[in-house]
Amino acid sequence: MKDFTPRKEFLPFCRPTIGEEEINEVVDSLRSGWITTGPKTALLEERFRDWSGGQEAIAVNSATAGLHLVLLTLDLEPEDEVITTSITWPSTVNNIEICGARTVFADVDRRTLQLLPEAVEAAVTGRTRAVIPVHFAGAPCDLDPLRKICQKHGLDLIEDAAHAVGTRYKGRLVGSDSNIAVFSFHPIKNMTTGEGGMILCQSRKRAERMRRLRFHGISRDAWKRYSKGGIPQYEVTEPGYKYNMLDLQAAIGLHQFAKLDSFNQRRKTLAENYFRLLGDIPEIMPLKPPEYEHTHAWHLFVVRADIEGLGVSRDEFIMKLQERNVGIGLHFPAVHLQRYYREKYGFSKGMLPNAEWNSERLFSLPLYPLLSQEDQEYVAAALKEVISSCKGS
Ligand SMILES: Cc1ncc(COP(=O)(O)O)c(C=O)c1O
Repeated sequence: MKDFTPRKEFLPFCRPTIGEEEINEVVDSLRSGWITTGPKTALLEERFRDWSGGQEAIAVNSATAGLHLVLLTLDLEPEDEVITTSITWPSTVNNIEICGARTVFADVDRRTLQLLPEAVEAAVTGRTRAVIPVHFAGAPCDLDPLRKICQKHGLDLIEDAAHAVGTRYKGRLVGSDSNIAVFSFHPIKNMTTGEGGMILCQSRKRAERMRRLRFHGISRDAWKRYSKGGIPQYEVTEPGYKYNMLDLQAAIGLHQFAKLDSFNQRRKTLAENYFRLLGDIPEIMPLKPPEYEHTHAWHLFVVRADIEGLGVSRDEFIMKLQERNVGIGLHFPAVHLQRYYREKYGFSKGMLPNAEWNSERLFSLPLYPLLSQEDQEYVAAALKEVISSCKGS
């Protein structure tokens, strides 16, 4: 490729879209004298409750913390098992281990990276307590068959919805009729609070326990104790954690949430551009959107490289892209082959063929509302240039 000119500036893999509204709202909190959990956090919870059609909403300081709280409410015992996917961020899985249970991995669909219901069904034993699918990259997992399996065996379905704020499955918003769904507001997510997360949950009793566990296991957070009419006394009902969201974070989240639809619309347009631009690059294979009816939130644009055809590893390939000033993400190397899991369970290659095939080939292209079409054209040109350099032409 003779006419490829590398950009001078690095194209970041991700950049949050922060407007004056978010900045002013944070300043308002800073000036107000109240910066920790308080009225803005309560308002963000209310917005999520209304949006979900009345689910319990519990704001936390990360999705990781949210998943931990959810798993704590299962009161897992050492031989209990939780079934999940290997193609996820480690915290989905680590929390199962932290709560003292055993992780059981089921394979994913090779084309979509969604957890395969038939693999979940095959993994159920008398000790299975829960299933944690991930709505991968912003597409929903196949909830109907997973719900059926969970109902049949009396299991909790815990949806890792970190990628799925605004995703719909068969017309219904993810989280709106979920047993439990946990969203992430990390800076690369579809909306951000800096760091943060939200649990949506059907059971009021369970939600009340998670609210206590998110703040030391006591019944009143600081806002309820220190504000006018608040009661300063408190009681520990069980030892808890420090997982509360700050008003400083909720201040950002309130405006991000108001812009969510426009952010997701922009992501959809960008994803369509990528499909068009990658149409003549057979060495780069995007994930396939699932065939069941859905609305994709386009959190990530994940592709797989034809490493055999290119004669390089994925890691070499993405290094070449980075040398050409393209920021790249890795979502995700298989968790079952990470050292802790290999050593504890004796896992090795061959046990999850679809997850492993993808794990060796996948990477994510930049995708965020501030990305321009020219940026995407540059990414496509850089991909072509790297491919031709791999092939020695
Ligand atoms: C699938 C998945 N689950 C959970 C998390 C954890 O989210 P957080 O960073 O908010 O703890 C992430 C974060 O990237 C994720 O991708």
